[in-house]
Parts: sequence; C-alpha cells; structure tokens
Amino acid sequence: MALDLEGWDGEELVIRRDAPTGAWIAIAIHSTLRGPAVGGTRIRRYPSVSDALVDVLRLSGGMTVKNAVAGLPCGGAKAVIAVSTDLIGSQREALLERYAAMIESLGGRFDTGPDIGSTEADMDVIGNVTEHVFCRSRAAGGSGTASPWTAAGVLSGIRATLRHGMGSEDLNGRRVLVQGLGEVGGVLIGLLHRAGARLLLTDTDPARVEAAMVRLPDAEAVPPEDATSTECDVFAPCAIGGILNSDTIPGLRCSIVAGAANNQLLEKADADRLRAAGILYAPDFVINGGGIIRGVGAERLGWTDAQIDARVEGIGETLQAIYRDAERLDISTAAAAMRIAHEVLTAAPPIPAGIA
Ligand code: PHE
Repeated sequence: MALDLEGWDGEELVIRRDAPTGAWIAIAIHSTLRGPAVGGTRIRRYPSVSDALVDVLRLSGGMTVKNAVAGLPCGGAKAVIAVSTDLIGSQREALLERYAAMIESLGGRFDTGPDIGSTEADMDVIGNVTEHVFCRSRAAGGSGTASPWTAAGVLSGIRATLRHGMGSEDLNGRRVLVQGLGEVGGVLIGLLHRAGARLLLTDTDPARVEAAMVRLPDAEAVPPEDATSTECDVFAPCAIGGILNSDTIPGLRCSIVAGAANNQLLEKADADRLRAAGILYAPDFVINGGGIIRGVGAERLGWTDAQIDARVEGIGETLQAIYRDAERLDISTAAAAMRIAHEVLTAAPPIPAGIA
C-alpha cells in the first residue's frame, strides 16, 4: 500500500532516524480530542521505511476509534520503531531511552504501551525516562502486561458473535482457528480450550506452534499459508494486519471472523466483501479493546479489578449492539462500529480526571 500522507486525517507525525542503530522511529498522534492520545509501540522490521509509515498512520486511526468505543477518555496514536535487525541488550535499551525522550518531548500528548514486538521490560526502560507509558512491570510500579485482558475481551467477543451468528455462544466443539500465537493469541488458545473449542493453530514461527501443541495436544496445526483457507467456524486473526482482503476473503471457509489483530481489513471495502460472503465480522477495534481498557483503567482511571473485568466482559454486549445496528441499517458491522465511534467523537469530550 502506498504512503498517502494527504489522506491521513490525524494531528501530528514525528519521525526520526536513530543514527546509532539505523532504526526509524515514527509516532503518529491521530487524535487528542478525547484526551491524551494513547497507543502501543510496535517494534519490528519492515520492508521499507514507507511501509512502516503506512502502518503507523493506519494503526493510529484505529486507536482513536478503539478508545472512543471503549469509552476511555483518551485520544488515539501509535508508534512504530522500524529496526533493521533484532536489537537486544544495551543497544535496545539505549534506543528505547532515546525513543522515550521523544515521547517526553511531546509534553503528554502521547502515552504509549506495549504492542507487537515490545515487552513489559521495554516499557520499564521507557518508564525510566518518561511517565507517559502504560503496562510497566508491577515491580516498576506499572500494571504489568495487559495481554490476558485483551484475550479475555476477544473471548467475550467470540461468544457474542457466535450467539448472534449461530444462535448459541457455546464454544463446545466449535472449530476455532487462531492465527498468531504471540502474547494475546497464546493466552486466547488456553481460554478457548477451557471453553471446549476444537483448536486449529497457526503461526509463521513453527517453534510457537510446537510449544502450543505441547500445551494443547488435542489441537491441530495448520500451515501458515493455509490460515485463511482452512474450514472452521471461527477464524481468529491474532497476528499482523491486512489479513482480510480481496485475495483472501473469497477463500475463507468460516462463518465468523473474530480475533485480536489490529487493522484486519486491508481496505474499507473488505467489510462489504465479508458481508457479501455471509461472514459475520467482529470489528477489530471493538473486540480487541480489552488490553487498553485494562492499562488505562488500572493506571489512569483508578478502576478496581472488578470494574475492569466488567468493562472487558462488556465488549460482548457492545458487539451485540453493533450487530443489531448493522442489520437494522443494512450496513456492514465495521460501518456500524464506525457509527458508534463517530457518535462518541462528535459528542462533548470527557471531563479530564481530577477536574470532575
Ligand atoms: N497494543 C495495544 C492496542 O493495540 C495498545 C495498548 C496501549 C495496550 C496501552 C495497553 C495499554 O490496543
């Protein structure tokens, strides 16, 4: 996909080449309308710097609507660190410290947290330089990894989608294909297994599949290239974005798509393609909000564990409302979710914590 800066409707893009490592750092603040913009830091290799920029711009907009639908008093942003090799040790730490200084220089307009390729330990390093970071380790005063809450929200969302699409939320015997066995997918498969689902597992890293098969010997491994063409009830994308597109959608053999990955649709039209194919799609920015609800709820809003769990569980109800709207208005589920986000974003911004 080509870089289209003019087509981006965000507020601020900060880009820096980190000379010591050759990494490119990009922070995209999409919206501060509802509060400081919050979004994770993705650390990975990209084919080119413009690919990294395309990703960060798209992801930042997704965070604005995610945080809005989740009812959080935050705007949306994302950061990408495009590395040329996998950085470890002191080199990684030094890069993260320079990145953290960039965050600090934004004066609170951007708060970050973990995302693909970044860890709790990375958040601790960032936290040595700036306060504007979520999900540091508990030892360092943070709330720890949020992935289990993302996974819990996805499970609630899968159940709600099954209920709407297939008449029952019972996972017993349902075939669920999980693509991506990382921080979130790895937790999700345990939850699904406990709920009685028949698991199909795939990852581009064979070691992850092997490790998961040891834990869950009843599961079936699926080659990565068959991820989007294997028959199942629920396809749960939990890896990188763009997996639902004009190439893959015609080959899908599932009734439901409901997973944790951000930006699952390559383009807007893919929502209609899924709808035309009779596949019920759980909009990614709704179903994967559990992690940020946990991070922001625990660290900024003072929510109790019970309050956080109730909000995360509530993702299922939000999705049910979206499915009803989509039917009533004869639009895609993604469009129905965007309508809710738009309503929230055009209403009065929330009162900042501490003033009310
Ligand atoms: N990676 C998370 C997401 O996409 C971002 C996040 C930020 C999670 C802060 C927790 C806390 O939603």
